[in-house]
Amino acid sequence: MANTPGDFRAWAGHWASGVGVVVAGAGEEMRAATITAFVPVSFEPPLIAICLSRSGRMSELLRGVARWSVSALGADDYRLARHFAHPARLTGSAELQRVGIVDAGEGVVALEGASAWLVCARESMLDLGDHSMFVGRVTQYARDPEKAPLIVWRGALRRLGEAAAPASWTALAADDLNADW
Ligand SMILES: Cc1cc2nc3c(=O)[nH]c(=O)nc-3n(C[C@H](O)[C@H](O)[C@H](O)COP(=O)(O)O)c2cc1C
Repeated sequence: MANTPGDFRAWAGHWASGVGVVVAGAGEEMRAATITAFVPVSFEPPLIAICLSRSGRMSELLRGVARWSVSALGADDYRLARHFAHPARLTGSAELQRVGIVDAGEGVVALEGASAWLVCARESMLDLGDHSMFVGRVTQYARDPEKAPLIVWRGALRRLGEAAAPASWTALAADDLNADW
């Protein structure tokens, strides 16, 4: 098996994920970018991490701000995912108003209509290969339980499929030990 960066990128695309948009900055400097590299890191305290290309303008902006938001996109908002990954996309708060933003508190905005959003305060930053990881402490969050998420898998933006298991894993039953290997 070849082990090239392109192969690994394809491997990473096999890991299905939600799709989000990170928003940071104010006024003319406000900028948003589509991400999948998001992970809730800790519950107590509540910490999240996002990874952005080191060469991009979004990671440059995040290096200089104290707070930012992450909005999880709903399945019908696939156009926003594509828009905020485009190099010629809208930037600046006046332009982002046209897309639809809401005041998320603490001088930060999130995307209007997101299935969930959070605001976080910069905790730490780590340069890792060609990406930088930004860890934030969550200070505000909200979600719309009725809104189904946008999913990305193998390069395509998708909707959630049907449930694979009969019940929620958070309600573990004795029967869960009896997998039929
Ligand atoms: C579905 C999707 C997921 C993406 N996920 C990431 C990601 O996790 N990290 C990243 O650096 N770029 C990601 N990108 C690419 C960025 O959105 C894109 O390169 C954007 O232009 C970066 O913003 P910048 O040019 O301001 O740095 C993704 C693009 C798409 C369409």
